[in-house]
Amino acid sequence: MTTADNPLAEATVERVAPPAVLVVFGASGDLTSRKLMPAVENLALRRLLPPGFSVVGVARTEMDDEEFLDRMQASVKESGENGEEARHVWEGFGHGGFRYVAGDYSDPETFKKLKDVLDEIDEQRGTAQNRLIYLATPPETFPVVVEGLARCGLNRPANDGAFVRIVIEKPYGRDARSAEKLDATVHQAFAENQVYRIDHYLGKETVQNVLALRFANAIFEPIWNRRYINHIQITVAEQLGVGYRGGFYENAGALRDIVQNHVMQVLALTLMEPPATFDAGGIRDEKVKALRAVDVLSPDEVAHNVVRGQYRSGWVQGSEVHGYRDEEGVDPHSQTETYVAMRLKVDNWRWAGVPIYVRTGKYLPKRVTEVAMEFNRVPHLPFAMSQAEGLEPDALVLRIQPDEGITLRFGAKVPGQAFRVRSVSMDFFYGAAFLEETPEAYERLLLDALLGDPTLFIRSDEVAQAWRIVDPVLEAFEEGDLPLARYEAGTWGPPEADALVDRDGRRWRKP
Ligand code: BG6
Repeated sequence: MTTADNPLAEATVERVAPPAVLVVFGASGDLTSRKLMPAVENLALRRLLPPGFSVVGVARTEMDDEEFLDRMQASVKESGENGEEARHVWEGFGHGGFRYVAGDYSDPETFKKLKDVLDEIDEQRGTAQNRLIYLATPPETFPVVVEGLARCGLNRPANDGAFVRIVIEKPYGRDARSAEKLDATVHQAFAENQVYRIDHYLGKETVQNVLALRFANAIFEPIWNRRYINHIQITVAEQLGVGYRGGFYENAGALRDIVQNHVMQVLALTLMEPPATFDAGGIRDEKVKALRAVDVLSPDEVAHNVVRGQYRSGWVQGSEVHGYRDEEGVDPHSQTETYVAMRLKVDNWRWAGVPIYVRTGKYLPKRVTEVAMEFNRVPHLPFAMSQAEGLEPDALVLRIQPDEGITLRFGAKVPGQAFRVRSVSMDFFYGAAFLEETPEAYERLLLDALLGDPTLFIRSDEVAQAWRIVDPVLEAFEEGDLPLARYEAGTWGPPEADALVDRDGRRWRKP
């Protein structure tokens, strides 16, 4: 079979990025050192970057090219990625491949300096005026940087064959209105096909595996609907607290930090219809359609279908931890949520009447992200109830992290003379089935952006749909219409969240 017969195969062929410069705004920040630089190093190690590939860091901190390179190399070393081979990679970058521009984003001079450096690199390293601009800055600076780029003409390709793309980090807006406003600013400078809104969850192999499982197999899709599925649970549980990010988190909260983006993306992939084509247009059209079908909660419904929580002090992995209000950078009376649980419904043919429970929280007992599809019970059990005591409904669980894989739970006979049925699990483990190393999410996404493949990035209308769902909840939080339930760190969230599913005669999974 050729790749023309099979579009999925095309996506599996390894591709090398074209000559280009990666311009990182926010180069002295945490995201650059923790995520982007390890991704650059790994791509180089896998020989997926072209010769001449260069990085230009832009930030306010004063430093020269050499110091920038040293800092970046050291930060990757810290995260344990560096080896002997990596040392050669960094030596290679040392020959003019890492440049730095210090300056204020509101100062036009910064962009003029950047333009000169980019011209120099094109001349010296053959990067052909191709640029991938990455905004790893705090969100309030996004418009300033976009306008600065446009003023200097850095938003448009300098020749017909060249590209200029811009990757924009989350959060994309603070609510529906501000996201729309940001979009208007971005679109004044960049065409939509130049814009790559990133959500690193889409770069995770197991998130993409939701598509493979659903659309490459004949056995799952026929039962992936309201006739067989009783309800869906999506969990994004974190074992860490907010750590040193208290200042940032105070302005975000779990709803903006996780639900509006990561949860909505996983939800869209779970609910969407099979795309006609496995490409950016086909997949993103279906995701938007799926999100559009999610019912928007009225203020009354928010009160009954949403729980917001905040962690108190408690014990996590044997250590006593502070409550959220005692974290650095956090208001001692803070009302910011570190936990959200919601019941959503979907108004379409496939999912009508299937509740979707989502939850996310910090300082929960375990780090686990999963999508669990719980099936209806059999219409009639031909055994005595006592023979099937404790038999759980069948379930298919897509384990996104950390134990990447799939679990199928079903009933089986307990060995012995008596006829008793009990739930058992059949497990698939990614790590055991494949020898290939799993690329990090940022690595995958950076390469896709360099290659001009926007499939795993979020289109403007997708962002708008995700905000549409989250907005009324946000409003209720901000108006103080929904009490803030406190939960002990190291537990599965506030009791109110249990009540949310109990009312429907269901229970949260304890992964
Ligand atoms: C980020 C959030 O987007 O995702 C963090 O800002 C969160 O608060 C992180 O911890 C979780 O990502 P992952 O890949 O560790 O599940």
